[in-house]
Amino acid sequence: MDQHKRIAAEAAIGELESGMRLGLGTGSTARIFVELLGRKVAAGFECICVPTSTETAVQARELGIPLTDLDACPNLDLCVDGADELNDALELIKGGGGAHLREKIVAAAAARMIVIADRTKRVDVLGRFALPIEIEPFGAGVTLGAVRALMARHRKRTGDARGADWRMQANGDRLTTDGGHYIADAFFGRISDPETLASELNALPGIIEHGLFIGLCRRAYIGGPDGVEIIEQK
Ligand code: A5P
Repeated sequence: MDQHKRIAAEAAIGELESGMRLGLGTGSTARIFVELLGRKVAAGFECICVPTSTETAVQARELGIPLTDLDACPNLDLCVDGADELNDALELIKGGGGAHLREKIVAAAAARMIVIADRTKRVDVLGRFALPIEIEPFGAGVTLGAVRALMARHRKRTGDARGADWRMQANGDRLTTDGGHYIADAFFGRISDPETLASELNALPGIIEHGLFIGLCRRAYIGGPDGVEIIEQK
């Protein structure tokens, strides 16, 4: 699978042009992309990058990749990131690495977002992967309750019996994101209408951001045993 991630990342490297302002994603596939970008930078390639997480910032800094932040560089040319799931319409679930809030802000600031992933991420209908939902700690239990109530309404339709719960760290503490929020992982079952679910979640106070990315991704490079497949936004 790592090899499939690598060939997808290599394909995305082919999109780079000198002087680009880049958004750098988070996760194991984005990590490979950043590693390849680091080699290019070491060989003289010029770019300026906005990382989507502390983890990516640390890696990029170690590789000598020039970094800035979104306020200093609000318009990006390209954002390259991984995904936990994507469908044919290039709707995504992201946030398996807990970075989807910053990933979405950076993707929205970019003229183009491209996804790099191995073939296991491709699905007909989103929802096999739990949907990460970033939640403000104040009143977090109440917000999770509202998410569960929304899930119960969806469950009548999807029949999915899996629930929603806080993402925990190995030491037993609740995970907090780079932004200081909690994450709940919510199994909505088959998400046949991601846009409606996104609006329903956006309407709940206390939710900082959910992992549904709709209308953001323009192209995906999907690595698999037969090479790299390209999916374009229709
Ligand atoms: C990080 O929060 C996520 O959105 C990642 O981009 C996503 O989980 C994909 O990660 P992998 O490349 O490690 O599968």
